[in-house]
Amino acid sequence: MTAVTRRKLLRTAAIAGAGGIGLSAIGKVGSWAAAPPEPVLLKTARIQAKLMDVGQTKNVLTYGDAGMPPVLRMKKGEPFAARLVNAIDDPTTIHWHGIRVPNKMDGVPFLVQPYVYTGDHFDYAFTPPDAGTFWYHPHCNTLEQMGHGLTGVIVVENPNDPQFDAEVVINLRDWRLGDDGQFIDQFRPRDAARSGTYGTVRTANWLDQPQFDAPAGGLVRLRAAITDVTRVYAFRVEGAEAMVIALDGNPVPQRFAPDALQLGPGQRLELAIRMPDDEGAVVSLGDVRGTKPKILATLRAVGTSLKRGLRDLAPLEINPVQQVDLAAAEHISLSLSATAENVPSDGICGSLGYSFWAINKVPWPGDTSDPTAPLAELKLGKSYVIDMENLTPQSHPIHLHGMSFKVLSSSTRPVQPMISDTYLIQPNEKVQLGFVADNQGDWLLHCHIIEHQKSGMTSYVRVA
Ligand code: C2O
Ligand code: CU
Repeated sequence: MTAVTRRKLLRTAAIAGAGGIGLSAIGKVGSWAAAPPEPVLLKTARIQAKLMDVGQTKNVLTYGDAGMPPVLRMKKGEPFAARLVNAIDDPTTIHWHGIRVPNKMDGVPFLVQPYVYTGDHFDYAFTPPDAGTFWYHPHCNTLEQMGHGLTGVIVVENPNDPQFDAEVVINLRDWRLGDDGQFIDQFRPRDAARSGTYGTVRTANWLDQPQFDAPAGGLVRLRAAITDVTRVYAFRVEGAEAMVIALDGNPVPQRFAPDALQLGPGQRLELAIRMPDDEGAVVSLGDVRGTKPKILATLRAVGTSLKRGLRDLAPLEINPVQQVDLAAAEHISLSLSATAENVPSDGICGSLGYSFWAINKVPWPGDTSDPTAPLAELKLGKSYVIDMENLTPQSHPIHLHGMSFKVLSSSTRPVQPMISDTYLIQPNEKVQLGFVADNQGDWLLHCHIIEHQKSGMTSYVRVA
């Protein structure tokens, strides 16, 4: 990767380096079959951070000592290990969003692992089977912990990837801050019952509109993860030719221009951007959804043109996800609806105190010692098709843990047969998602608008 020299990128790189102290070791250890990798230390911390011009915001949460949680780098098919040390006054866990990990490593309290209390630690170890862009976050008291900062990006590298001239990794998220730069109420009930409560300050890598330098005429691999708790984005690139090469950690079957492409919380966008030939030319990545379009980040062309071509870019390698057998698949009906029922939660991982939403008419009661029955009991190795229907006027990014699905069809729009872990279902849409139940355990399925997740729109499937 060509050195990208601007200060803001250096800051990102430095952050990635800080979190990646164990990572260079992993690369070496990977070739010895027996030696476990050096664990990356992920220690929760309550810090101050500059998110607005008015000064430091207090009560920001991160992993590490300062700034954004590190960008974690893993290698496809090589063991990874991390030790979560909990140094905040709230139980926590880590979920590796989109990575097909063994059930015990999935980070969901009660369902698969104990809470990690203040002062305790938990060791995570797994081998990522797929290359791509993923992310990590707690799965306990998530509205509060993620809302205050605990969301980080993961890059799983593949040595067989095509050659880019630069890579830019962007963590997209909002903050609910008042004019004084301090946190305000994390949600409003009437918004939680609609599209969710939006943040007031929008950032990329915890910065307002960072600029990255990239070689003129070069090919940039831009990886963006929507780690926000609420916001749905519509992406557009201006000032350069750009192609979507991967979504949600998997190559897209057909590349396309990101013309107001909508993606929701939990989803990841990978673009190949062909930088302009002229030094100083600026390319922007914007969110054009709703009435207030926003430039999220910019790229500035530097040096003499490398004269690369987007069309020369070889395809990304397909991840080893099993092919669903449609002829033999059993169908699972799943409906998303609003509810008026009230279910009190006795869990300690944070209840909003409301239930507004339901899956198959059942509002999830929160993490309890007596959870509701699974949505479906699946047979290990068998193919399934989820027939999912959205009966609400809002869109919902529905995320399945532990397994990747293929998007088979939609009632309202043409869809590519993409492999993904999160599908943004639109109002009144019906969609079919096919997958092989090849990972044993209890796997959560929920809306990634965290207020929806925490007020009923959660369930799970059991694979045995
Ligand atoms: Cu990204 Cu259940 O989570
Ligand atoms: Cu939702």
